[in-house]
Amino acid sequence: MEAKQPIPPAVIRLASAEETRRLAAHLGGHVQVGDVIALTGTLGAGKTTFVQGLALGLGVPAGRHVASPSFALVNEHPGRIDLVHIDFYRIRSPAELPELGLEEAYDRAATAIEWAERFPEWLPEDTLRVTLEVEDGGARVLHAQGDGPRGHALLRALRESLHDEP
Ligand SMILES: Nc1ncnc2c1ncn2[C@@H]1O[C@H](COP(=O)(O)OP(=O)(O)OP(=O)(O)O)[C@@H](O)[C@H]1O
Ligand SMILES: [Mg+2]
Repeated sequence: MEAKQPIPPAVIRLASAEETRRLAAHLGGHVQVGDVIALTGTLGAGKTTFVQGLALGLGVPAGRHVASPSFALVNEHPGRIDLVHIDFYRIRSPAELPELGLEEAYDRAATAIEWAERFPEWLPEDTLRVTLEVEDGGARVLHAQGDGPRGHALLRALRESLHDEP
């Protein structure tokens, strides 16, 4: 059998929060029920900003406040596809995770997870992994890697968006 060719990661420079939102909104237009997007990056790197764009692309009304879940631990935003938003930064122990309904969310919604690297064993195999880095000067550099068929499809959607730029 032929070995599967790994798809190289996408590397995209994002000069402003608006660019981050626009890229994520484009991605959101390709997201299907069951897709999981794992976000990594230092404090303030732009993970929530990315989820705000994703929400727009999923058809969550623009007036909806999309912020990091804190007290509730999980936020849900109804859209063309419902968005479940989780921040692993707020989870102190993996013992808290089974109660959050993650696996159920993975099945019925699109799920975005900030600080996903904290509990990697809780991520499904098929995931789009997005890492945001802060450059000197403040621009962000996004690195995306896709695992599994949907991870690969979303990675392709991110690449395509670069060709749509005016
Ligand atoms: N591409 C970008 N260029 C410049 N600034 C950006 C960019 N993306 C986001 N920002 C800004 O960075 C700040 C932090 O963004 P955000 O809250 O999304 O980060 P975060 O990674 O979710 O932080 P936390 O680690 O606290 O969850 C915001 O003021 C946002 O507008
Ligand atoms: Mg955040």
